Amino acid sequence: MAASDGFSWRRHFRHPVFGCLGFRPIVAQHTRAEDEALGRWAKGRKHIIEIGVAEGASALKLRQSMAPDGVLTLIDPFNLSRFRPLNTTRRLAQSVVGHCSNGRVVWIEEFSSHAARIWTGEIDLLFIDGDHNEDAVLQDWKDWHGFVAPGGLVVFHDARLFARGWVTPQYGPVKVVDALFRTKTHPDWEIAEEVDSLVAVKRQM
Ligand SMILES: C[S@@+](CC[C@H](N)C(=O)[O-])C[C@H]1O[C@@H](n2cnc3c(N)ncnc32)[C@H](O)[C@@H]1O
Repeated sequence: MAASDGFSWRRHFRHPVFGCLGFRPIVAQHTRAEDEALGRWAKGRKHIIEIGVAEGASALKLRQSMAPDGVLTLIDPFNLSRFRPLNTTRRLAQSVVGHCSNGRVVWIEEFSSHAARIWTGEIDLLFIDGDHNEDAVLQDWKDWHGFVAPGGLVVFHDARLFARGWVTPQYGPVKVVDALFRTKTHPDWEIAEEVDSLVAVKRQM
């Protein structure tokens, strides 16, 4: 049998139920450098929002790093489960994020555009990692960036090409970041840092 025909735990135990049962680790959808950057950007922040939670890998990092009196709001409709009452991705995410007791976590099981309609609070870190279609990413930006305080960050995932990375110029977040911040300047915002596929833009003071 060729090496590539070998049994792949990752392929065969992909379903989140195996994560819930402890048969596999959660699927982290970001690189180690991105994980470190998220931790650095979340450090000491008090009002963090993540759009797009999946199995909770990035949410856990944000929770571990934020201020002890901070609130992390996690927005994901978890709508892809074939059997909604069981919803193993949601269960897995809640279990993973619950491994850390830092700060407080609020779950909003909605599409981000719905959540934005009822949102009122100030944000100091917004992580956009939900629907990656260009229109959807742009909508997330439009719906949410007005809530970000001066000095606050908006971070886009899969928004930048990098060596040995998976991102292509056709990715929605790449097109949105290029249109908003690279091909023109934004009056109140500028690119603060870029790490692998992450682009962090900062609201000027
Ligand atoms: C790329 S994954 C998120 C990965 C996660 N941030 C991580 O690094 O571990 C995208 C997630 O966005 C969610 N999603 C899709 N459309 C969304 C929307 N309109 N609002 C909020 N979440 C959405 C999906 O259900 C999915 O769980």
